[in-house]
Amino acid sequence: KKISMLGVPMWLGQTRYGTNLGPSELRLAGLTGRLKQLGLEVADEGNVPVGSAGPRKLADKNMKNTKAVVKANEKLAAKVSDMVKKGRFPLVLGGDHSIAIGTLAGIAKHYKNLGVIWYDAHADMNTPETSPSGNIHGMPLAASMGLGPACLTQIGGYSHKVRPENIVLIGVRDIDPGEQELIANARIKAYSADDVSRLGIDKVMQAALDYLAERCDGIHLSFDLDGIDPAEIPGVGTPVSAGISYADSLQAVELLFNSQKITSAEFVEVNPLLDKGGVSAQRTVDLISTLFGEKSALALRSEISVG
Ligand code: ARG
Ligand code: MN
Ligand code: MN
Ligand code: MN
Repeated sequence: KKISMLGVPMWLGQTRYGTNLGPSELRLAGLTGRLKQLGLEVADEGNVPVGSAGPRKLADKNMKNTKAVVKANEKLAAKVSDMVKKGRFPLVLGGDHSIAIGTLAGIAKHYKNLGVIWYDAHADMNTPETSPSGNIHGMPLAASMGLGPACLTQIGGYSHKVRPENIVLIGVRDIDPGEQELIANARIKAYSADDVSRLGIDKVMQAALDYLAERCDGIHLSFDLDGIDPAEIPGVGTPVSAGISYADSLQAVELLFNSQKITSAEFVEVNPLLDKGGVSAQRTVDLISTLFGEKSALALRSEISVG
């Protein structure tokens, strides 16, 4: 597998400075070396340039920093599309989750039926009409389904990147009323963090894979680190308690590796400035490495005990 890694130092999709430091922090935590150790060819394509925040009063139609978010996402979409064209695996490092708009725009044009696993405490299916915050990082999945303003839905020069029936939400536990309605009406498959603890992570991931593999010709993993419990990944801007455990999350990405079904991935919302004890970037690197086949300490331990 040939990986093309791309950072997007974006924080303007929300209001807490620091997610822009995510890509650098993940590199400093040794990401590239860990992937190369797995025998993978890794090309670090650097970062997509992200503009700066405009004055708050220019926030229009309940969307903050629209111009800068749209611009960076257009650049991201073009870069990612190029990677897929060249047969490389796009690995995008956020940045806040607004960058999923550009990632999906770049990827989806190369698939007939792109599937998306959305690992997140949130559904990110707001439009400016339903958003409680005006933060674009709460809108990327809606925009990718073709819902919301044209400046977001048309990124990459086309709209409707993913069909609602090709999406699986995993870990959701903070859903706004407008999002709830959309999930119900479009019958979007969703497993809450409670579902995960009730059914077990293996069952949930297997069900998600079976569901998507049947209908999709590619599966994108959009991993928002706030899907994991903030006690274990504290460095995120919008923490929600009672999340999926870090151990279960390692298990989840290991299962995804074993399936060999994931065709692109992004890891978003790491905010080093909000971290405690410097664990969040390190654990994110562990998750990414596990997605690409590194045996987690956990897996090694259970193998030894099984004999
Ligand atoms: N639902 C809230 C909003 O729309 C929070 C979204 C958080 N999104 C995220 N990618 N962390 O403002
Ligand atoms: Mn989230
Ligand atoms: Mn909320
Ligand atoms: Mn998110």
